Amino acid sequence: MRISIHWKLTALFCLMALLMLGVTYFYLDSHLKSFLEKRLQEDLRHGLSLSKDILETELSGKVMSSEADRLADRFGRTLGVRATIIGLDGTVLGDSELDATALAKVENHLDRPEIQQALRTGFGQSERRYSYTVKKYMLYMAVPLGKEKPIGILRFAIPITYIEFLEAGMVRFLVIAVGISFIVAFALSYIISIIISKPLIKMTKTAEAIANNDFSAKVPARSRDEMGDLARSLNFMADEIKRHLEKISSGEAQLESVLSGMAEGVIVTDAKGNIVLANPSARKMFFIDTPPEGRTPIEVARNSAVQNMIDKVLKEKQRLATAEILLNAPEEIYVKVNSVPIMKAERIEGAILVFHDITELRRLERIRQDFVANVSHELRTPLSSIKGYAETLYDGKVKDAKEQQEFLGIVYRESDRLAKLIDDLLDLSKIESGRMSLVLLPVDLGPLANRTRGVVEKLAREKSIKIDIEIPPDLPKTLADERRISQVLLNLLDNAIKYTPDGGSVKVSAFRKDDFVQVDVSDTGVGIPEPDLYRIFERFYRVDKGRSRELGGTGLGLSIVKHIVQAHGGQVWVKSEAGRGSTFSFTVPKA
Ligand SMILES: Nc1ncnc2c1ncn2[C@@H]1O[C@H](COP(=O)(O)OP(=O)(O)OP(=O)(O)O)[C@@H](O)[C@H]1O
Ligand SMILES: [Mg+2]
Repeated sequence: MRISIHWKLTALFCLMALLMLGVTYFYLDSHLKSFLEKRLQEDLRHGLSLSKDILETELSGKVMSSEADRLADRFGRTLGVRATIIGLDGTVLGDSELDATALAKVENHLDRPEIQQALRTGFGQSERRYSYTVKKYMLYMAVPLGKEKPIGILRFAIPITYIEFLEAGMVRFLVIAVGISFIVAFALSYIISIIISKPLIKMTKTAEAIANNDFSAKVPARSRDEMGDLARSLNFMADEIKRHLEKISSGEAQLESVLSGMAEGVIVTDAKGNIVLANPSARKMFFIDTPPEGRTPIEVARNSAVQNMIDKVLKEKQRLATAEILLNAPEEIYVKVNSVPIMKAERIEGAILVFHDITELRRLERIRQDFVANVSHELRTPLSSIKGYAETLYDGKVKDAKEQQEFLGIVYRESDRLAKLIDDLLDLSKIESGRMSLVLLPVDLGPLANRTRGVVEKLAREKSIKIDIEIPPDLPKTLADERRISQVLLNLLDNAIKYTPDGGSVKVSAFRKDDFVQVDVSDTGVGIPEPDLYRIFERFYRVDKGRSRELGGTGLGLSIVKHIVQAHGGQVWVKSEAGRGSTFSFTVPKA
């Protein structure tokens, strides 16, 4: 059962009051009673000696029976006691409580202890004793009468019940006084405890409000005592908590936006390995569409390598675990995963997994490796030819002048090829590294196409291939580097003629398309099979390697075309069907 501090204080104060009042009551009770008894006895004694003086004057030497009874009645009535006058022989001469007939029957009183004591010492007093005469417990006092010699005895008696009656009256007053005091004490305790407990209750309410994130609640802190200090501390604490919470929440918001903005996937787990956080990139990477919190990484990523890393960090207490994983659905993604523990005072509280998508990096690496292999291969082929023929000639084994001429022709052609290859490579690296500066001027594509046709005409004629140029005279000029654009057109025309069998035809057409001019170069040649289409613009990529090489190609032409067009802000693409011909298209911005 919960008892409020207010009632506890009230009870405590009341208990204290009760204790104090109890002590006072018992002290007063016992002391007042004996004081009262003493006072009564003294009063009785004074009354007795006063009455003795009066009686001695009035009786003038002897005690007469009739006189004695009258006097006893008078003293008894006046003083409110039982007055008895006894002769020296013990005969009761007068009694305030008895009439004459009763008086006659009263036994001799000489043996009463107070009488004996009075005759002996001049004053006698008995303890309480039952009086058969008046049928009550009485307290007796007696003195001898007579100035020179005793003539009788005067005795006063009061009933014990009278003393008890007075005592009971006194006790009643005491009880009433204690009762009233207690009621007053209770009321005061109640008020005081309210005064004391009120600020405490207020502080409790404020603390509860703070716990419920309501920091506007404040405790009045006016008093300069400990209560005031406590209130001030509480207010200060509320302000501090509020400040810290704001700091934490702004930190959380910052962290949240950092995590949301990160390209890397981040998953945080607790010490048991259950996910507590997964940022948007991680959700996207693993196609998580339901809240992952509370689940394990293996459930979410469906990849045992990820789980192994978490286990290494959490169970084997490894400081850093790294792995590269391959995700297959729906396309291949290479992911590098780093996992580190979250430490707090040498204890592992959880783990952080960071996923970097390194697919592009891997692709570029593969291209670089292919490139190196290709370049070496492409360089070696003409070089070994040159070396072989040169050696043969050098050895002087070929005597025939015609044959010598033929060999020298091969050496010349191959070195030419080598030079072309190196030129192309240099061109490409220039373009790729961004060192190619374009001189952009308005270029009329019609005349440019005609000039380019002039370059390849000989080749076309040899294969009896017809070249049509269909460029409308009102075609807008393009904003281009003339030398580079003619390089593009030359490469495309060269390919079209090279990969079109004898007797075919090639067509160059151009038209405006929004802010660009589109140029199409179509042929009726061998075409390109579907699987090769998307790789055709890669360096060294050739559909039929042997045939291309035979035709003197290096596989760099289209790659150079792509880079030049892109540097102009245009696009290049191809449509082709194996055996039916191809159409290469590119766009250049209008001037
Ligand atoms: N018009 C076309 N018809 C059919 N195949 C083509 C055509 N143009 C290009 N190709 C294919 O694309 C490959 C790449 O062409 P690219 O121009 O890059 O190299 P290349 O012609 O072999 O050599 P280079 O142009 O460097 O002398 C060619 O080997 C060929 O297989
Ligand atoms: Mg080519």
